[in-house]
Amino acid sequence: MKIHIAESAPAHAVQVRLDPDIDTSYLSKTEARQILVYGIDGTLTNPARIASIARGVMQEAHRLKLSDLVLDYLDVLPFDENSDLFSEGRLYAMNLMLAAYRSGKYKMPSKGYSGVENFYVINCRDDEAAGLRTGAIIGVGVNTCRELVDEPSNYLYPEEFGRRVEKLAEGIENVRVVVKHYAELEKDGYGLLCAVGKGAKNKPCLIELSYDGKPDSSVTDVAIVGKGVTLDIGGTDLKLSGAIQGMQKDMGGGAAAIMAVLIAAKLKLPVNAVAIVPAAENLVSSDCYRTMDVIKGLDGKTVEILNTDAEGRLVLRDGITHALNEHDPHLLVTVATLTGAIRIALGNRHTGFFCSDDSFVDHMKIWGEETGNDVWHMPHEGYEADLESSVAYIANVQPNGGKMGGSCVAAAFLADAAKDMNGIFAHLDIAGTGMEGTGKDGLFKGAATGVPVPLLVQMLEHWKPES
Ligand code: BES
Ligand code: MN
Ligand code: ZN
Repeated sequence: MKIHIAESAPAHAVQVRLDPDIDTSYLSKTEARQILVYGIDGTLTNPARIASIARGVMQEAHRLKLSDLVLDYLDVLPFDENSDLFSEGRLYAMNLMLAAYRSGKYKMPSKGYSGVENFYVINCRDDEAAGLRTGAIIGVGVNTCRELVDEPSNYLYPEEFGRRVEKLAEGIENVRVVVKHYAELEKDGYGLLCAVGKGAKNKPCLIELSYDGKPDSSVTDVAIVGKGVTLDIGGTDLKLSGAIQGMQKDMGGGAAAIMAVLIAAKLKLPVNAVAIVPAAENLVSSDCYRTMDVIKGLDGKTVEILNTDAEGRLVLRDGITHALNEHDPHLLVTVATLTGAIRIALGNRHTGFFCSDDSFVDHMKIWGEETGNDVWHMPHEGYEADLESSVAYIANVQPNGGKMGGSCVAAAFLADAAKDMNGIFAHLDIAGTGMEGTGKDGLFKGAATGVPVPLLVQMLEHWKPES
């Protein structure tokens, strides 16, 4: 879908009217023009309402199989006098874009309806237009993240992921992509990433996308390390067959990291940021790493592999060490579809958020609410005690199949890798929120949600080291 900020729209475009007095929607026709009346039952008051109205309009348009819409900003949006027109426009456009996304790329060519193609917005003031343009850029970027996540693993494997990122970054100012290939990873000691990926024919790689938004400073403000497991069948601790379904999306954190930094670059935000994605397939073969192996990571520390299905924390550990060695960031955030346990704890409404810096926690909660990517603060300090190993520096899971506090233990493993950094460490577990939309949230059912890209963009825009 394209959002056009225009003076006028073609006559065939269906006019969207937001009606504060009703709470249903219907299609009517006056003279030549069709009108989609969408009842909002009240005024637009908070970010969640604006988001749900934007998504609702798109859902209705899909239900009615409409392809061109026009929204007249003068008469439809009952924003009050003091409202922030820029932010509202931004949120509205982003959510229109998110709700426009439909997966189904590999279905047979369908001649039928293929979604809303054009959304015209007319009569908006400068602030509103700027907000809408920004929101559209963010929305398109989030949808690109979702396309990557929704790709099957036979199309998107580690090296191909790297090539896609190179392509996406082409022509964007101040952005650089470097892919470290398997041979180099082996030579340079990325033992954990290599261990997880070596059993597959499609070898692992490390994808790095950096954006330099502050030409006068060489300091890296933010590093986002995203899990890039393009298929997770569990390894020798093989998953049950049903549990492999969906595991082509186990690179959702990696795609989110890349797209957040790329969106920051497109918006020319004044921040120096880097996205780092350790990418691997976690398969089974006679070359794969095995339960009870001991592996030395890039940080020189050894890990006892008690469960090969806890692979995310392993690749992330090398990703974190890479981030610290090469970039020494003020803030390091890991993003990963890391644990099934977070789905049990928080479901799909909140992303699990782990961090020991109170002020940063408060900011993230607010940015989460503003973007609809709500986070829930969870504890991780002390849980590393469960990872004591008798043969190595640390174990990757609790011994004897222990499952207590699974998400917290996983976060503690990551925090241990970052414990000597000069800044803030935080971790987002998106296994419940990132992988599949419910349909009830206005997003395409079963497709990736793009969570937490909007939150990360907000963070890249607003986070300052001293704050
Ligand atoms: N990618 C999975 C986490 C996951 C599970 C995401 C279900 C979405 C749905 C991760 O690599 C994994 O397998 N985690 C294990 C950890 C366990 C072995 C300690 C899990 O959650 O079962
Ligand atoms: Mn796993
Ligand atoms: Zn995994």
